[in-house]
Parts: sequence; C-alpha cells; structure tokens
Amino acid sequence: MVFSFRSFVTALAATTLFVSDSVQGRQLKKKEIHAKQVEAARRFQSSAAVRREAAKTLNFSSPAAQKFFVDGKSIPDVDFDVGPSWSGLLPISGDKNETRELFFWFFPPGPQGSTDDLIFWTNGGPGCSSLEGFLQENGPFSWSTGTAHPVPNQFSWTNLSSVLWVEQPVGTGFSQGKPNIKNEDDLAAQLVGFLQQFLLVFPELKGKKLYLTGESYAGTYVPYIANYIYEHPGALDLNLQGMWISDPSLSFDVVQEQIPAVNFVHKYENVFSFNQSFMAELDKLNDKCNYTGYMDKFVTFPPKGPLPLPNGSTRTPKGCDLWDTIFNAALIVNPAFNIYRIFDTFPVLWDVLGFPGSFENEQTPLYFNRTEVKKAIHAPLDVDWKECSDIDVFPHGDGSLPPAFSVLPSVIEKNNRTVIVHGLADFILIAEGTRIVIQNMTWHGQQGFQTPIANDSFLVDGVGALGTTHTERGLTYYEVELSGHMVPQYSPVAAFQIMQYLMGFRDKP
Ligand SMILES: *[C@@H]1O[C@H](CO)[C@@H](O)[C@H](O)[C@H]1NC(C)=O
Ligand SMILES: *[C@@H]1O[C@H](CO)[C@@H](O)[C@H](O)[C@H]1NC(C)=O
Ligand SMILES: *[C@@H]1O[C@H](CO)[C@@H](O)[C@H](O)[C@H]1NC(C)=O
Ligand SMILES: *[C@@H]1O[C@H](CO)[C@@H](O)[C@H](O)[C@H]1NC(C)=O
Ligand SMILES: *[C@@H]1O[C@H](CO)[C@@H](O)[C@H](O)[C@H]1NC(C)=O
Ligand SMILES: *[C@@H]1O[C@H](CO)[C@@H](O)[C@H](O)[C@H]1NC(C)=O
Ligand SMILES: *[C@@H]1O[C@H](CO)[C@@H](O)[C@H](O)[C@H]1NC(C)=O
Ligand SMILES: *[C@@H]1O[C@H](CO)[C@@H](O)[C@H](O)[C@H]1NC(C)=O
Ligand SMILES: *[C@@H]1O[C@H](CO)[C@@H](O)[C@H](O)[C@H]1NC(C)=O
Ligand SMILES: *[C@@H]1O[C@H](CO)[C@@H](O)[C@H](O)[C@H]1NC(C)=O
Repeated sequence: MVFSFRSFVTALAATTLFVSDSVQGRQLKKKEIHAKQVEAARRFQSSAAVRREAAKTLNFSSPAAQKFFVDGKSIPDVDFDVGPSWSGLLPISGDKNETRELFFWFFPPGPQGSTDDLIFWTNGGPGCSSLEGFLQENGPFSWSTGTAHPVPNQFSWTNLSSVLWVEQPVGTGFSQGKPNIKNEDDLAAQLVGFLQQFLLVFPELKGKKLYLTGESYAGTYVPYIANYIYEHPGALDLNLQGMWISDPSLSFDVVQEQIPAVNFVHKYENVFSFNQSFMAELDKLNDKCNYTGYMDKFVTFPPKGPLPLPNGSTRTPKGCDLWDTIFNAALIVNPAFNIYRIFDTFPVLWDVLGFPGSFENEQTPLYFNRTEVKKAIHAPLDVDWKECSDIDVFPHGDGSLPPAFSVLPSVIEKNNRTVIVHGLADFILIAEGTRIVIQNMTWHGQQGFQTPIANDSFLVDGVGALGTTHTERGLTYYEVELSGHMVPQYSPVAAFQIMQYLMGFRDKP
C-alpha cells in the first residue's frame, strides 16, 4: 500500500484533533485560557487612569486630626501600604452632652486625584454600613466576596479625589448613641451636624466641591441630604455640585419591584431556569395584576401624562406580590440565588463581611468585628460590628415620602450634574422600575425624558458598549449590563467612568 505524505499529515491532524477533543476536552490549553484572562484584566485596568496632572495630596497636621491618623502599613491582613488616612468617631453636634457619634474613614486623593473635590459615600439599608462600600466597592483596597485577601483597588474613587465614608444614620455599624430620627430630614440634619464637626477637625477640606454618593436605600438618603444642604445655605462650608445614586430606592415597591418583575424574568429566562408551567403561571398572574404591557403602554418618550399605579394604589394589590413568588421559586432551583446579582449559582461564596448574596456565609470573624482591625482604625472595641444593623435606625419607620414624590426633582434642578445608575442584573430593585420613576417625574418644567434611551449608548473606555445612557436637563441615567446591585463592586470600570463624568473630569457620559 502506498502511504502518501499528504494522507500521513491528514491522519496526524485527525489524531491530534481526536486527542485534544477527547482527552483534554478543549483545544485551548489551561495556560492559554489563563493568558486570555490576564490580558482582559489588563485592558480593563488600563482604562482606569484619571489622566490629570499629578497633584499634591492633602495632609492634616493639627493635634485634633492626629488622633484619627491611620498608618496605611498597619491594617490587618493588608500586606501593602494603603497610604495615610484618618478614621474614628465624631459627634453629630457640638453639644457638650452629645452622646451620638458617627464613624468615618477619610482618604486623601491618590497621586492622580484632585485636591479640590470631596466625595461623600453612604450605603443604604436602612442601617447598612458604608464600610461595605469602602471594602468591597470603591475604596483604595478591596476584599470582595469569594476572594482570599485584600488587594489594591485599581478603580478606587480615591484616584479621583478625597473620599469620606460615613456609617450613618445613628444605629449603623460602629456609630454610637440611640437612634431617634423620624424621617429623612432628621437624618440629613444629623449628618450635616456630623460634617460640621468633621470640618472643625479637618478645616483644610472647607470649601471643597462636594459630591454626595450612595446606593440602594441611600437613593432616598442622598437626595434628602442634598435638599437639606440647599435649604440651609451657609450651614456647611462645602460646595455641593452633584450626586450619584445607584440602584436607588426612589419610589414604592410596587413600582420598583412588582410591575417589572415578570418582564425581568423573561429577559433572563435561562438564568432563572423556571419550568414552563411556572412561566405560564407567572404570565397569567402578570395579566391579572395589570402589570403586563405596562412598560410599552406607559413608559414612552416623552410620556403621555402621569403614569398610573396598578389599581390606583401605592400598595401591592392582594395576590400580586409577584416579586416574592419569583424569589421563592428561584431559590428552589438555585439555592445560591442572589437577588443582588442574579447570575450567582451554587455554591454561595464566602464573604469577609458576612453578606454574600441573599444570606450569610461566615467562615471567619467578620473583618470589622476583629479587635485588631478595630484598634487599627480607632473604632470602639465594644461594638459587635455587623454589616447591616439589627436595630431599627428609624425607630418608628421612615416618615418621609419616597424622594421621587418630594425632593428629587428640585435637587436635580439645583445640582450641576446628577447621575442615576442601575445595574441590569439587579433583582432587588429593577432597572425598568427606575425608568418608570424617571418618566413619571417632572424637573425643569418637563416630565421625563423627551427622547428614547438608545440601546448600546453607554460606551465604556477600553470595553465598548456596556448598557445605556441618556442625558436631559441635568440628569444622566445609566444602565450597566452584567452589573448587580452594587455597581462599583460588580462593574468598577463603569462606575469609575460615571464618577469622572459626574465630577466634570470628562465631558461625555
Ligand atoms: C488607583 O488606586 C490604586 C490603589 O491605590 C493604585 O494602585 C493605582 O495606581 C491608582 N491609579 C491611578 C491612575 O491613580
Ligand atoms: C503630614 O503631617 C504629619 C504631621 O505633621 C507629618 O509628620 C508628615 O510628614 C506629613 N506628611 C506629608 C506627606 O506631608
Ligand atoms: C444637651 O443639653 C441641652 C440643654 O442643656 C439640651 O437642649 C439638649 O437636648 C441636650 N442634648 C442631648 C443630645 O441630650
Ligand atoms: C386590573 O384592572 C381592572 C380594570 O381596571 C380592575 O378591575 C382590577 O381590579 C385590576 N386588578 C388588580 C389586581 O388590581
Ligand atoms: C406618577 O405621579 C403622579 C403624580 O405625582 C402620581 O399620582 C402617580 O401615582 C405616579 N405614578 C407612579 C407609577 O408612580
Ligand atoms: C383595588 O382597589 C379597590 C379600591 O381601592 C380595592 O377595594 C380592591 O381591593 C383593590 N384590588 C386589589 C386586588 O387589591
Ligand atoms: C415548576 O416550578 C414550580 C415553582 O417552583 C413548582 O412548584 C413546580 O413543582 C415545578 N414543576 C416541576 C415539574 O418541576
Ligand atoms: C463580634 O464579635 C463578638 C465578640 O468578639 C461576638 O460575640 C459576636 O458574635 C461577633 N459578631 C458577629 C456578627 O460575628
Ligand atoms: C457644571 O456642569 C457643566 C456641564 O454640565 C460643566 O461644563 C461645568 O464644568 C460644571 N461645573 C462644575 C463647577 O463642576
Ligand atoms: C433595544 O434592545 C431591545 C432588546 O434588548 C430590543 O427589544 C429593542 O427593539 C431595541 N431597540 C431598538 C430601538 O433597537
């Protein structure tokens, strides 16, 4: 038999193919997969540069400030120098008998950040600690869910300017004293009282441009804090410019959770993996509850008039809590189902703050509950720190209206820029619900956005289209693909770019 060279090569190729398919399972070697991931991470990171002249940083040399100084080389489990910072407790008023104090951690700007600006960050809850934001979202180092130890955060907001994380209101985290606030105005008054005390210790920060930022229930806190500052000119020696609210609580649950819930499941059908009879049941309930078709009919650009509430009520109609129905069913097929980021599957990842997904998974002491950590940051040793407080920080509930029905429009009008941001993989608050809120809100004399939000309009440097963005009359709205509830954690590159826009470091969203 004549064995030609050509058929030998063909046979060899077939053999190679056979080997790599059946033995290794893939054409790509593990090393090659790894290299692709490293390259992707590098591209992602190179887009984070602020591109400003290196500025000198800030220093605080008064004896009062010295007391709060944190040595960046002495933070437990952090094996790199995070630079100087200041943290501890300060009272919410100058009263001699004041018992209530809030815990803060302040970082001056990194080498490329601006010394003219100050970012204030708060988490929501109510009663959840801003140290979550610090350690897992936008701080100078991060120890995220499922990771082994802290690493420098390339997307730290300290690369933009000074940042102040505050555990507020009273009753949250390390804060001291008994909560007594009745509504959001009380909350704002106490926070502004704290900021006044803060500026007495750090007077070098007086007059800086201020940006108020927060997520989730802070979508309610932040507009009310801004409103308080605008209504009390001269109370605070800072120059409020704008605000960021992400995955914000702005309206009633029926709007932000119920109306869009079944649409959301349809968008992510393969992620939820519900069986067909349950899908049919959901569609039937959606019809019965008058949620079906709501978006197409009422969320138009421009809107045709005020948007209705289903059955005319701010309460969820009886038998129409579809959000809960979906959550319960999701947990049956996926016990790791995470309302904050729906893509999570089994197993639940460990979290150093004890707050992964929708429930606790503690394998070690909570980071901020460790004595050596408390000592390093001047935190009270006798507080059992928890990410979200067990006590009610509004002892008799929050008496304020949701901000969309009160202060939000006027605050947008007074701010230079306002950004509302929403992660599209968030189920606890759903982006389509935020669209309803925006289209039903009147600011600068017009209701909602007048022209449609275009697909693929949010272009992230170094990435490309990653969602949508739309700007009208001082308000910019962003929807971020692949991001869960905590946008700076789940899409740090997008969050960083959005902050650059908010702060005027870039002209386009
Ligand atoms: C951003 O901050 C991180 C962590 O501090 C740092 O490693 C990085 O170099 C900074 N990047 C810029 C552009 O300042
Ligand atoms: C900041 O101030 C402290 C206290 O006065 C001083 O020891 C330190 O050298 C200063 N750091 C810088 C970077 O200026
Ligand atoms: C402190 O005392 C003053 C009067 O002496 C009182 O008006 C104020 O409510 C007290 N403050 C607190 C926090 O107890
Ligand atoms: C849906 O709308 C119809 C007609 O307006 C109304 O009769 C019905 O009560 C509504 N259903 C619910 C659950 O709100
Ligand atoms: C829209 O706004 C009007 C007027 O403020 C209010 O009556 C109505 O309940 C709102 N609708 C929704 C869906 O929030
Ligand atoms: C719809 O509203 C009416 C009148 O407010 C109320 O009686 C009825 O119970 C509501 N229906 C549902 C399903 O909640
Ligand atoms: C379909 O899903 C529903 C909701 O989780 C469940 O009650 C039902 O048993 C499921 N049916 C099948 C065949 O798995
Ligand atoms: C915090 O630490 C204390 C003792 O050090 C412990 O009793 C408590 O259970 C811890 N809290 C949490 C939430 O782990
Ligand atoms: C205010 O916003 C405008 C654009 O909307 C921008 O050009 C300007 O720099 C901003 N001013 C400040 C003080 O941030
Ligand atoms: C935008 O994308 C959605 C699907 O995500 C699609 O249904 C819709 O038609 C698109 N809109 C336009 C104007 O292309």
